[in-house]
Amino acid sequence: MKEYDFAIIGSGIAGLSFALKAARQGSVAVITKRKGADTNTAWAQGGIACVTSDEDSFELHVRDTLGAGAGLCDEAVVRTIVTEGPERIRELAELGVEFDQGQVSGHRELDLAKEGGHSKRRVLHVRDATGREIEERLLRGLEKQPNVELWEDHMAVDLITSAKLGFATEDRCLGVYVLDEKTGEVETIRSDRTVLATGGCGKVYLYTTNPDIATGDGVAMAWRAGVEISNMEFIQFHPTCLFHAEAKSFLISEAVRGEGGILRNHRGEDFMRHYDSRGSLAPRDIVARAIDAEIKRSGARCVFLDITHKPAEFIRERFPHIYQTCLRFGIDMLKQAIPVVPAAHYQCGGIKTDVNGATSLPGLYAIGEVACTGMHGANRLASNSLLEGLVVAHRAATAAVRTPARTQKISLPEWQSGNVQDVDELVVIYHNWDEIRRLMWDYVGIVRTDKRLQRASARLRNLQREIREFYWNFKVSIDLLELRNLATVAALIVDSALCRKESRGLHYTLDHPETDDREFKRDTLLSRG
Ligand code: SIN
Repeated sequence: MKEYDFAIIGSGIAGLSFALKAARQGSVAVITKRKGADTNTAWAQGGIACVTSDEDSFELHVRDTLGAGAGLCDEAVVRTIVTEGPERIRELAELGVEFDQGQVSGHRELDLAKEGGHSKRRVLHVRDATGREIEERLLRGLEKQPNVELWEDHMAVDLITSAKLGFATEDRCLGVYVLDEKTGEVETIRSDRTVLATGGCGKVYLYTTNPDIATGDGVAMAWRAGVEISNMEFIQFHPTCLFHAEAKSFLISEAVRGEGGILRNHRGEDFMRHYDSRGSLAPRDIVARAIDAEIKRSGARCVFLDITHKPAEFIRERFPHIYQTCLRFGIDMLKQAIPVVPAAHYQCGGIKTDVNGATSLPGLYAIGEVACTGMHGANRLASNSLLEGLVVAHRAATAAVRTPARTQKISLPEWQSGNVQDVDELVVIYHNWDEIRRLMWDYVGIVRTDKRLQRASARLRNLQREIREFYWNFKVSIDLLELRNLATVAALIVDSALCRKESRGLHYTLDHPETDDREFKRDTLLSRG
């Protein structure tokens, strides 16, 4: 058994920010499934929404966030996160993140981008690869911390709680079992403060802008430990994922539309004008639904994002990553519109926490996309997520270091693998994995109905039974653990969606197309048992 003052699972912006702060107070393990930088953060293109300009105000940012959230944001949480943003951005700059600057009235100022739903230009960015730059700087900062160990190629299997061990004390999180991918052994980590910073669950859908690691591990582990889960029906579909047979999950940033990009249908029409007066820069839920409708109506396989009217030099300078990637797939965005489709992008719900990352289980914190603080409500405003991750990680670290360590150290049992054998039926894992992702896409996507949700629910129950059998009979592997988590999270999304008999924000159902404030202006809260 290994012991740390803080065990952090996940190495994106939230996990690393927490680790940097906690390391001043004690020993830290950062456990991550693949390499340190294999995170959703590193894929973030757009940037961080934060009030930094004289033309902007906290009040406007709060108003825009509440507007997108469709009545379900927690205003106090939004206010806290928005107003503490500038201080956290200063810390990122101290770590060496150089946000883009431009000439404004003869002097250099931050170059602020505009994205859908924002009334002002307020998105700080590093060209079109903001997340990658932040991730690298945070990892470099971590390397200088002697108190931190980075456990790469290790996947958390399950949380260890006093209830699971049958202790007759208050239930709390005592640590985590972790699979070492290289040796296949499961190690026991004891920690008084365990932090889930595992990101989202985009891989639960067939098409996603997320990297392969996004399999909902944190939500699934928390669920199994009896922690409260909130608002999982609100999955954000990004309107513009590159449509190309060989391109996997490549996002075309909303910033392209922010700089004037226009969505066109297969006939070249600026169709968004028929759906919303804000046109191509309407909020994401509206644009994603409009594209879905346009594709279904016309039978076309995608729509097109056209920024060819902008100067070539501007496009190359502002979007070097997108430009180069599209070129690799034979698309020259200087001369032709980019084929795009909507894809699963962000999990607005998650483990229910307060604004300090505290969950319903003492000793367990959740920060970043895995958590549901009340910031995003029923629909996240673009570029608010890196901001939330940064601010809540800081607050959670501050709260966690103040929580006294437990004086009574408990010895934890080793992982019991029982009578196991190697998985020789990998094909079943892959088949189930594909089936879940396809059924979620077909039945639990941008437009839902009761019947489709019920169908998905029944199928998922069967799959979960099969997977449970596998889990107990075979030696655990990352593939199997991810499949189990994926199935759990898919079922949570479906169950939450079935509870909400209205349409609001990202949850749109043909059977209940109206918003019902009388019955449903509230969070969905699920807990096991
Ligand atoms: C984007 O660049 O379009 C993604 C930004 C975000 O999802 O916040």
